[in-house]
Amino acid sequence: MSDPIRVGLLGLGTVGQGVVRVLQRNAEEIARRAGRPIVISRASARDPNKARDCDLSQVAIEADPMRVVTADDVDLVVELIGGETPAFVLIGEAIRRGKPVVTANKALVAERGNELFELARGAGTMIAYEAAVAGGIPIIKSIREGLAANRVLSVVGIINGTCNYILTQMSLRGIDFGTALTEAQQLGYAEADPTFDVEGVDAAHKLTILASIAFGIPLAFERVACEGIARIQSQDIELAKALGYRIKHLGVAKRGMDGVELRVQPTLIADDQLLAKVDGVLNAIVVHGDAVGRTGYYGRGAGGEATASAVIADLVDAVRSLDTPPQHRVPYLAFQPDAIAPMEVLPLEKIESAYYLRVCVADEPGVLRSITSILAELDISVEAIIQKEPRAAEDAVVAIITSVVQEARFNEACARIEALPSVRSGFSRLRVEHFDS
Ligand code: NDP
Ligand code: HSE
Repeated sequence: MSDPIRVGLLGLGTVGQGVVRVLQRNAEEIARRAGRPIVISRASARDPNKARDCDLSQVAIEADPMRVVTADDVDLVVELIGGETPAFVLIGEAIRRGKPVVTANKALVAERGNELFELARGAGTMIAYEAAVAGGIPIIKSIREGLAANRVLSVVGIINGTCNYILTQMSLRGIDFGTALTEAQQLGYAEADPTFDVEGVDAAHKLTILASIAFGIPLAFERVACEGIARIQSQDIELAKALGYRIKHLGVAKRGMDGVELRVQPTLIADDQLLAKVDGVLNAIVVHGDAVGRTGYYGRGAGGEATASAVIADLVDAVRSLDTPPQHRVPYLAFQPDAIAPMEVLPLEKIESAYYLRVCVADEPGVLRSITSILAELDISVEAIIQKEPRAAEDAVVAIITSVVQEARFNEACARIEALPSVRSGFSRLRVEHFDS
């Protein structure tokens, strides 16, 4: 077998330590797959003296990650720091030196990927990023290679483990949002800044990448409509359940006649649908291709060793293709760089879906009729409705599932309903996604 490939590991956090453990534990099988051993020669962390949950006795630890990138005994760089700074500069330097890069950094790929891939193309260097989307699920490889025959029609999925963990725990154990988030952080699922998770930014980063490799469009993070789960209340979860739905944080990239939909939003899914049953840190993605139909991908979307699985798969790929001429490698964004072309991104107002509406109303006769009359006037049907009877001195709560309607028209209905004198504060609206139509 050839000499070992020497990896420089930037970051020894949740994922970095997972990579060290899995590489060491499965060293022999990984070498048999890659054709040569893969060893970590150097690593960096802000605090090089901090105790880590892995064996670093054979690894030189640096405080300055640039020393790892530039070291002569580093052939390949794995970036597991996260964020834009200093990751962009470090990866840029590795590329300039012709060192292949593996990263799990979705924020960087989604926001600066167009530049990085152009830089890498100029240098003939690889950048692999399987772990950037859906943790351990090999979704990048599946879309980029396995589905290469298809015109991809849609990619829909649960792509943030932290959000799914929080919504699941709120639903199953009845715990509050803050407690569930703390647990997700303790389990190593959340980003360094967890607002990226709960405000939907992390999922929007991942959707940006998925849409690009599915449709052959440039990475366009700023075009993704992004909403998180912070405003989801326990009563919405309960009312949705009573109506036969689960609330999931969903990423949706859909090709339509007039352009593409790119959005991440909390969404109701009928509880007999596959995605409604995906709980905890698990992620699931359904890709609809014109030839293959719908295919599903399911597994752990976050966590040290699950993510290490994807990082190491990229490492093996990189080692195998070291001698492959750049033009014969799988293109960074699935399509040949000069064949990538932008598509119109539809504004939310033009997107059609069914809706869930929760309204808090005074307990008076005729209130329900005035709400349903507004919906009827705007040609919006009520598919299901429940009313939670008020306890003494409380307002009543009404929850409605509507027919499919364009968002602009639904906005008008909401404005008119909110203006009714008997409607109190406590108004909530969420999309409902039906997959079989
Ligand atoms: P952590 O915060 O656990 O680890 C980050 C590591 O980078 C730490 O070792 C830290 O050093 C080091 N570091 C942080 N800032 C700097 C800096 N400015 N300069 C040098 N080193 C720095 O992150 P994760 O392991 O969770 O995530 C790493 C990457 O993987 C991110 O891009 C993340 O989005 C992505 N990812 C994470 C997943 C997960 O489940 N956690 C899943 C999929 C992707 P020190 O330890 O000394 O503080
Ligand atoms: N914070 C991310 C999540 C990590 O919860 O999904 C995996 O990308």
